[in-house]
Amino acid sequence: MTKKIGIIVGSLRKGSYGKQIAKNFMTLLPDGYEPVVIDFSQLPLYNEDLDDGQDVPAAWTEFRNDVQAVDGIMFFTPEYNRSIPGGLKNALDVGSRPMGHNVWDHKPAAIISYSPGAIGGMGGNFALRQPLVFLNMPTLQQPEAYLGHVNQMLDDDQKVSNPGTIQYFQSIVDAYVEFLDRNMA
Ligand code: FNR
Repeated sequence: MTKKIGIIVGSLRKGSYGKQIAKNFMTLLPDGYEPVVIDFSQLPLYNEDLDDGQDVPAAWTEFRNDVQAVDGIMFFTPEYNRSIPGGLKNALDVGSRPMGHNVWDHKPAAIISYSPGAIGGMGGNFALRQPLVFLNMPTLQQPEAYLGHVNQMLDDDQKVSNPGTIQYFQSIVDAYVEFLDRNMA
């Protein structure tokens, strides 16, 4: 049966490098693995008062269902102030509640961080690992995926064409797919 891989990009920006990098990764998935882009841009900020069964925002329910429906998640995130974007943290919080209904539970994850800077969003990558521990998401450790100088990776039609870079991306995808198969609930 086809396995579904949720693709979550931490940036909301229309011209986001991360959105383009994620598209390039999606083309490298082997047969039998289907990428499903999960959008968190419409989620109201998490507020426990709204989670009592009466007033639950429809966008929260839809997002929770979207995460529930996939077998694992690949996160593509920029680093914001050495951490993760607030929107991404909000999405993690929305999916984690109400208590006892954590939709992230047991979903194997990969984290690909990126930056136009040299260190590839390493601080953001590690910041994302912290909540994933508590959310009970086994997370790929190797190969590490900190994509530095991401602005130089894409050509005019938003494709990655450097053979060495494609090979590196493929090694991450291959390791993640194997990790997903071993760790799926
Ligand atoms: C950034 N950026 C950034 N880059 C970095 O390497 N380390 C950092 O701590 C930060 N902090 C930061 C904070 C905020 C609020 C913004 C908007 C940006 C730069 C960031 O890496 C760059 O804008 C990326 O291009 C964002 O990813 P997208 O939107 O291209 O996917």
